[in-house]
Amino acid sequence: MADYFMNTYHRLPVTFVRGEGCYLFDDAGKEHLDFSSGIAVNCLGHRHPALLKAVREQSEKLLHVSNYYQCGTSAAFARNITQAAGMKKVFLCNSGAEANEGACKVARKYSAKKYGGKRHVIVTLEGSFHGRTITTLSATGQPKFHQNFGPFTPGFRFVKAGDIAGLDMALDEKVAGLLIEPVQGESGVIPMPQEFMTAAAEICAKRDILLMLDEIQCGNGRTGAYLAATQYGVQPDVVTLAKGIAGGIPCGAFLADDKAAGVLEVGDHGSTFGGNPLAAACGNAVLEIVNNKAFLAEIAEKGAYFIDGLKALNSPKITAVRGMGLISACDLTVDAWPVLEKALDAGLLMLSAGAKTLRFLPPYIITKEEIDKALQILDEILRKG
Ligand SMILES: Cc1ncc(COP(=O)(O)O)c(C=O)c1O
Repeated sequence: MADYFMNTYHRLPVTFVRGEGCYLFDDAGKEHLDFSSGIAVNCLGHRHPALLKAVREQSEKLLHVSNYYQCGTSAAFARNITQAAGMKKVFLCNSGAEANEGACKVARKYSAKKYGGKRHVIVTLEGSFHGRTITTLSATGQPKFHQNFGPFTPGFRFVKAGDIAGLDMALDEKVAGLLIEPVQGESGVIPMPQEFMTAAAEICAKRDILLMLDEIQCGNGRTGAYLAATQYGVQPDVVTLAKGIAGGIPCGAFLADDKAAGVLEVGDHGSTFGGNPLAAACGNAVLEIVNNKAFLAEIAEKGAYFIDGLKALNSPKITAVRGMGLISACDLTVDAWPVLEKALDAGLLMLSAGAKTLRFLPPYIITKEEIDKALQILDEILRKG
């Protein structure tokens, strides 16, 4: 078939036609154990009955209504996600990049109103990933994503992840917000050190700088708490979410706590599709399952089981294993991409995060048997290759 796509993705040579639970099936009928979840999207796996029901019932009633009107399903999702995240207000959008764009607008307006327009800088971390729009690229602390796309949105400043003294210096009187991924996903599943997160929260509170957490990849229960912020015992002023919050229907959100909840006013921001009833119905279905103490505890337990299993492989090709809940990674002595290709042949779907790092984001419904199976496949590939 002629390829009309712009050449932006390194697509693997497989065509999926169906999914079921933690498996995807290709057009030759072969099953693949899914340890990628569509990059942290299919958090309840494939064809989950609660999501099928939500799609069926909502699509029979109403697919879309503009945000100029009220919608009970969307209002319920706004309440549910705000309460799950322990925040005060939410703006619903469609993707992670949009959520981070919105967070930047909140920080800039918060400071502009209180301190004047000069206090507009947003500090982010080296190695961070915040999206592909010009502004979220400007916020992304990885030069490899920047080539040929300048000029960038001014007013972003980068600090080394974990460098408390550097952070203290960077958070000066020009800064409106600090944007951090508590667990950096794209750059290799790097959990921020506890002392760094604690210091960041303290400095931000003292200087009235908004602490904004990008939990687009590590939030929504993935670490074993609804927000990774909870794992660190910090209360953000703003949180961004997307990916799995509606289980596979595009949806994003930025949420604000007391300080910033009232910053955006009528006309300040908008989205045609944001909070769409179909996405909201699926978001409600996801929250009903995920935002549950026992379910979150299982995510943490299964995550630890997998991480222990990776360590127990004792492979000379694995130099480090890390993660939190069901977001984990291992560094290799060899390139990750050929390992991914071999895993595809063997029926296991994984991701990379950097040239020599494998990343694992299985659905939350993964079983220990499926974890054992993935470990066995990975073990065989690493032994042979
Ligand atoms: C931490 C983080 N922020 C932002 C984004 C951008 O999200 P989206 O691709 O939905 O725009 C991603 C996507 O990988 C992400 O991992």
